[in-house]
Parts: sequence; structure tokens; C-alpha cells
Amino acid sequence: MKKVILWASALLICSGILGVTGFAQTSDHAVDKEGHQWWQHAVFYEIYPRSFADSNNDGIGDLKGIASKLDYLKDLGVDAIWISPCFPSPQVDFGYDVSDYENIDPMYGTLADFDVLASEAKKRNIRIILDFVVNHSSDQHKWFLDSKSSRASAHRDWYIWRDGKGPGEPPNNWVSTFGGSAWKFDPTTNQYYYHFFYTEQPDLNWRNPAVKDAMFGIEAWWYKRGVSGFRLDAVDTLFEDPKLQDNPILHPGMNAFGDPYEDNKNNTKLPEVHDVLRGLRKVADEHNAVLIGETWTADVAELNRYYGDGNNELQLPMDFLFTTVNKLSPPEFRKQIAAVDGASGWPTFVISNHDIVRSYDRYGDGEHNDQIAKVMAALYLTLRGTPIMYYGEEIGMKTTPPTSKEEVKDPIGRTGWPKEKGRDGERTPMQWDGTVNAGFSKAAPWLPVPPTYETHTVAGELKDHNSVLEFYRKVLKLRHDNTALLDGNYKALNETDDNVLSYLRIYKDHGTVVALNMTNTPQKISIGLKGNGFASVKGLLATEKSGANGDDVSLEPFGVFIGELSK
Ligand code: GLC
Ligand code: CA
Repeated sequence: MKKVILWASALLICSGILGVTGFAQTSDHAVDKEGHQWWQHAVFYEIYPRSFADSNNDGIGDLKGIASKLDYLKDLGVDAIWISPCFPSPQVDFGYDVSDYENIDPMYGTLADFDVLASEAKKRNIRIILDFVVNHSSDQHKWFLDSKSSRASAHRDWYIWRDGKGPGEPPNNWVSTFGGSAWKFDPTTNQYYYHFFYTEQPDLNWRNPAVKDAMFGIEAWWYKRGVSGFRLDAVDTLFEDPKLQDNPILHPGMNAFGDPYEDNKNNTKLPEVHDVLRGLRKVADEHNAVLIGETWTADVAELNRYYGDGNNELQLPMDFLFTTVNKLSPPEFRKQIAAVDGASGWPTFVISNHDIVRSYDRYGDGEHNDQIAKVMAALYLTLRGTPIMYYGEEIGMKTTPPTSKEEVKDPIGRTGWPKEKGRDGERTPMQWDGTVNAGFSKAAPWLPVPPTYETHTVAGELKDHNSVLEFYRKVLKLRHDNTALLDGNYKALNETDDNVLSYLRIYKDHGTVVALNMTNTPQKISIGLKGNGFASVKGLLATEKSGANGDDVSLEPFGVFIGELSK
């Protein structure tokens, strides 16, 4: 039931436990004496390729564009880039409708461009993560074209075909998360096929061993080409109840698409998902690769299931639990952090992506947005776990949704207008500098450059020591150098404080304190140095008017203080 709500909200707003043993099967790849793997120390950065950098000035970002920005990313402190789908695609869902899993869409370049990107990235110690759309292909994929051609075709059973209940009646009541019935009638063979997303995204039939083999083969093919892992798209949706039982209706009313509110219990999060994840993980382990999951977990119990028994499924199921705290609330964050910190695998922190409203707007109060962006950076980049950044977050990019239905590019924004404006707002071109189109392209970009490029660009912020970008660079540097931030446990401080979120990261004799004022008034906290076994504190990174004096930390409104503790 939570699942439905989470999918819906995604569209609408558009310690110790890890231990050395949890990763025993890959410990030969450990990067430190704690048995940590490369992906536990890495900072990931999501690139939406259409919107990052356009090298050939056709208004759409591309692989050469990404390659041209590798120095920027390296300098920022990024260790791995996750590129949203760049494979051949009719672009109905902007790449999440793949028509060939082993190639690059010409609009983004060629396989040769990919190889250059991979080798240039490698020179800089930046790893490449691709986006594996495992639930569905494009309806233009050769598998589906064959599948729909006849009931006897070789690929018929690669997708989910069923007879209708009666004339003009789909097999059951399941609705697509993108609007309308999840079944589309195909007159050629007089059957319906199933699609959880757009009609152009038919669901693959993972119960068919041939589908499994093909997908595992694609996974290995990219590893051999230099890829270090995958972000697995929409994993919750891989399996459906074979009996096709109707979904219960949650409550009366209609969503933005005019569909009933369904509990997707019969078409999401089926237990069979875990067999597939174990299979994908086996292939990943052969290549020291990481699997990140788009997992809309409702609670930590569900999150734990995605890590698998003995950590044999996803290393990094994305913790969207964090993105559900949509206000600057120390008690809420504290609760979420404690929950994830106690999970059975390594935490992952995400605050923005290409499907949800940017963190800048979710937490910003309209007046102190830049300060708040720094508070959020100091939070998710200093926790025990792996952060996944989203392009533009580091410069304080703002969500800029279309203002009229005619402007909308994301199809759900047209079918759902005005309740659902789609996801264009968080996918606007990266704001590089103050030149035409913010330096993204010399041609008109596929989505307009937001007016905030006048105040927020990479070039502008690199020159301003007080900028959001400079703050990100400093925290990211600290995160890579500070032993307690790399390997320390998380310990909450001042757990009843409603205004300041503060915590320690402790590794052996090393301690680091983080204090974040989430209010617009000055605040003070005590570290409790003695009680925690330390004698003094020295500032490592703080906003202008925040600092420590003995055991006390003073914070300006939305102030940040990060300090090193000594024995
Ligand atoms: C995931 C992607 C989203 C896409 C959907 C269908 O949720 O993040 O952008 O539309 O899957 O592939
Ligand atoms: Ca281009």
C-alpha cells in the first residue's frame, strides 16, 4: 500500500552492523582495513544526459559533453557517475524506453564515444554506472516487435500477453502508474499486453528463463566494456501475480490521471524479485561491480529484504525514506537516520533525482534557500553511508516546472495537467556559466534554461567563496580525507533538540562532530566532549558565524559546524 503512495508521490512532487563479515564474499576487493568496498567510500553523482552538456549544439546533452566535464566532476569530489539511460530509445520516457540495450542512442553519440568516456573517466578514477531498465523495454525493441507479430513468435512469451475478460475488457483492474489501464489491446493477435508504465513500455516477462539469460548477458556485456555497476530501474515492478487478481481500491476518489487509487499488492514487490536480484548480484560480484536499486521501500524491514540474506542482493538499495522527510525537521531526520543506520546493509542517501522535486525547493523556505542547501549538503554528505548526488544540486539548482500544458515534454505532465505537471522541472539544463543558454548549448535546449541561471552557475559560484558550490566542494573534500567521516560509526547527540540536528562520527580515536541548525534563529548545542571520551574540538568547516567554544557550539540561523574532536 505504501508502495502505491510512494510511486504516486514520486510523480506528484515529482556502524557497525555492516561489519567486515557482511561483505566477506568480496573482501578481496576491500579498500581499507575495515573491509570497506570501493562503493562505500565513493560519492556518486547522477547525470541526466539530455541536460548535462551538449557538445554538438543540437540542444540535447551527449556523451562527449559529459566527457568534457570530467575535470569539473573530479575537482568537485565525485568518484562515480550514474548516467540515466543513454541507449537507443524512441524517447517516449526520455530513455527509460530502451530499444537496444547494447548500444548508445545516436543523439548521445556512439559506442566509440562511450569507450572514450570510460577511458577518460578511468584516468581520473571516476567510475561509470549505467541505468539498467530491467522491468520493461521499448515497444520498438526487436524483442517486442517479434513478440507482437504473432502468438507463435519466438519472443511471444518474453512479454506478458493475456486474453481480455470479455470483449473490450482488459484482463483485470490494474492501472498504469502513468495513467489509464495497465493493459493495451493489440488487434494483430487479439490479446492484451501489460505495461506498468507507458503503453510504449511493455513489461518483460521475468518468469521466462530466456529473458533472465538475455538480461544477465547484457549486464556482463557492459561490465566487460568498463562499467562499474548499474542503477536498476523500477525493481519493485519486475513480477506480477500469475493469477492476475484485481488490486484492491485504497479509498474513493481519482488520482491526477482520473484513475482509482489502487493498492499495487498484486503487481509490485512480489517475492520473486529477490531471485532476480541474487542473479544480477552474482554477475556483479564477478566484476567487483555495484548494484544500486530504485527501491521504493516503505520501511527498514523492506529495505533489509533488498540487501538480501547475507548481503547477496543489492549493495545500495536507494533509501528514499530520507526523501520522504520533506521539511527541515531534526526529529524526523534523526528518526530516519537511526532506522537506516540500524539496517542490515550499508546506507545510501539520496535527496534529489530526475523524478522528484529538487531538494533545493523541498527544504528551501524561499528566503534562505542557499543556506538551507548547505545544511542539506552537510547532512547527507557526512553520514555513514554512500551519498548519491543529482546534477545541479551542488550549485543550488531550482525546480522550474513548465507554466503551461503546451510547454510540457514529460508525457505524464500532459495527461495529468494541471494536477501533475510532470518531471521537466527537475530536468532542466545544467547551469554552467552566464553565457547563452547557461553554457549548456549554443542551440535552444530541449528544455528552457531556468531564470535562476543569472544567480546560480558553476562559473559564478567558483568565484564566490560563500557559494553553495564552494560549500559542496569543501564538504566533499572533508568526506574523502577525514577518517571519522569515512569509517566512523554514527552517534546521535542531543536527541530531544527540535532545532539542531547534531551527531558524532567516531572511528577509534578519531571523532568528528556535525551540528546543523535547521531554524531561522541562532542556536546553541553542547557536544558533551567528556562524556564521549574527548577533550577538545577544532573547527574543520563552518558557515560564517558558527563556531565552537569549549563544549559549546553556536550556530547562526541555518548555520553549519563540523569539527574534529581530540582526546
Ligand atoms: C523509474 C525512472 C523514471 C521512469 C520509470 C519508468 O521510476 O526513474 O524516470 O519514468 O522508472 O522506467
Ligand atoms: Ca547534443
